[in-house]
Amino acid sequence: MRALVTGGAGFIGSTLVDRLLAEGHTVDVIDDLSTGSLANLSGARASAGGQLAVHQMDVRSAEVVELMARRQPEVVFHLAAQADVRVSVAEPVFDAEVNIVGTLRVLEGARAAHAERVVFAASGGTLYGEPETSELPLKESLPQRPLSPYGVSKKSALDYLVAYRELHSLEFAALALANVYGPRQDPHGEAGVVAIFAERLVTGQPVTIFGDGEQTRDFVYVDDVVDAFVRGATKGGGLVCNIGTGRETSVNELFREMAAQAGVEATATNQPLRPGELQRSALDPTRAGIQLGWSSWTDLGTGTAAVLEFVRQRQSDAPGG
Ligand SMILES: NC(=O)c1ccc[n+]([C@@H]2O[C@H](COP(=O)([O-])OP(=O)(O)OC[C@H]3O[C@@H](n4cnc5c(N)ncnc54)[C@H](O)[C@@H]3O)[C@@H](O)[C@H]2O)c1
Repeated sequence: MRALVTGGAGFIGSTLVDRLLAEGHTVDVIDDLSTGSLANLSGARASAGGQLAVHQMDVRSAEVVELMARRQPEVVFHLAAQADVRVSVAEPVFDAEVNIVGTLRVLEGARAAHAERVVFAASGGTLYGEPETSELPLKESLPQRPLSPYGVSKKSALDYLVAYRELHSLEFAALALANVYGPRQDPHGEAGVVAIFAERLVTGQPVTIFGDGEQTRDFVYVDDVVDAFVRGATKGGGLVCNIGTGRETSVNELFREMAAQAGVEATATNQPLRPGELQRSALDPTRAGIQLGWSSWTDLGTGTAAVLEFVRQRQSDAPGG
């Protein structure tokens, strides 16, 4: 398969690139390196030879359409995004430019390339708004009612996917992702609580928990998520599928388990809950099981141990580490 991955230098995108190359596919990456980095692709670049080409380019630019028409990908994985809810609140126009106009450029590129399919990284954490307790874990049949500009721009991209399928027979699969975690996640971003805890526990820095820590999230490991993207290249056409575990874990529970794994006696201080943060979240993955043949297989303890190990290794590789 000739694949193209937008956002391929990011946390999830680079893990997807590694998997696609390991399966023998040819991969083009489009990334402006705004939050991603070439370091995430160093292994891929070292081993891929001519199978990988990285194009430093902004998805908002018209050049994207020309490049895609030239490279003729069969499957387009669209992960490039402004992915920070707080940035979307502060700069909603910028958020819309990247997530809506950028998605349109990528769809136009897919059309020009006669691509078979677009696999899109949607946000399950924001798509359904603040749910009623009785609705958990959330199913795709719930109304879409995003409460942040980021949630709205990601939902708009879904609407365009549906329109392009109707108008241009461009197939899509949309994956509504839960809280993805794993090695390479930016510990300075807002979503990566596992990455933040790992960094702070390994380096002995104080930990802050926003709110009382009883808020819950559905943590799903990056390798499992990447497997869902690969499945989405051939299955789940025309659908949104939730990609989560269906299980809620509180931030306090996560912190206790990770501190025990790290072997440190850490305590966390609490700060007021940030506006717009959901109280509870979990995604029902039943449809992904039926349509993609997918379910997550990495349990949280195994996944957080891998993240702690990654951070330890990075510390010891760092100058003076
Ligand atoms: N991490 C999660 O828990 C999660 C949850 C739901 C959805 N998602 C979605 O998954 C995708 C990947 O997220 P991630 O966690 O790997 O984040 P990330 O920030 O590591 O990856 C995003 C990538 O897109 C690139 N990018 C950003 N703006 C761009 C632009 N204008 N042009 C070209 N490239 C651009 C960045 O440089 C980065 O490499 C995003 O679409 C995000 O919205 C992530």
